[in-house]
Amino acid sequence: MTASFAERLLAWFDVSGRHDLPWQHPRAPYRVWLSEIMLQQTQVKTAAPYFERFVASLPSLPALAAAPLDDVLALWSGLGYYARARNLHSAAKRCVELHDGELPRDINALTALPGIGRSTAAAILSQAWGDRFAILDGNVKRVLTRYHGVAGYPGLPAIERQLWALAEQHVESPHLPQARLADYTQAQMDLGATLCTRAAPACVLCPLQDDCVARCTGRTAELPTPKPG
Ligand code: ADE
Ligand code: SF4
Repeated sequence: MTASFAERLLAWFDVSGRHDLPWQHPRAPYRVWLSEIMLQQTQVKTAAPYFERFVASLPSLPALAAAPLDDVLALWSGLGYYARARNLHSAAKRCVELHDGELPRDINALTALPGIGRSTAAAILSQAWGDRFAILDGNVKRVLTRYHGVAGYPGLPAIERQLWALAEQHVESPHLPQARLADYTQAQMDLGATLCTRAAPACVLCPLQDDCVARCTGRTAELPTPKPG
């Protein structure tokens, strides 16, 4: 029998995933949060040196909350999308006021903070604490639309709902042990970023190739469906 989606992804991740990203060592909540905000619109290679500089200067959530906004913006300078830095700073201040200076381990409290949507909150919870939450960022949307052959623009609410349901089905697999939830989250992002790329997916190297609908029906170029109009 074919191993589950999660099992195959993890086996691939152990050999070919990214294990030396700066926010993985140590995988502390503040560091995971900061990395996820940087990675929302910036690639790993670009974000990594900014991340190192940022945590060297502001090593904790209370340090970030206490820093002047101008210092935070200076550390962000060059990364773009500066609303991310403003939101990060105001979220840190909110955590000092409401959560004893810590990032809350709660999906609703996290999404209530500026700059943190459902997928980012899930990525933080799974990587920082090993909690069982599905993620659905751009990379994962691409993998799931192809693997399951989901046609329709993924920005449409009905398609997005369908993709969330599939992501949740995979993360609930009994073959996905609690201790591997952080790796599972990283594995999905790594597969989307390194193999299942937009323009040229490397299906021959992919652990999902045997039953990937897009691959098996020759539709990797059509999926995900582009934005209509
Ligand atoms: N994009 C968002 N989060 C990421 C992560 N942890 N690794 C790689 N790419 C990402
Ligand atoms: Fe993506 Fe190809 Fe893997 Fe399918 S087989 S998930 S299209 S890389």
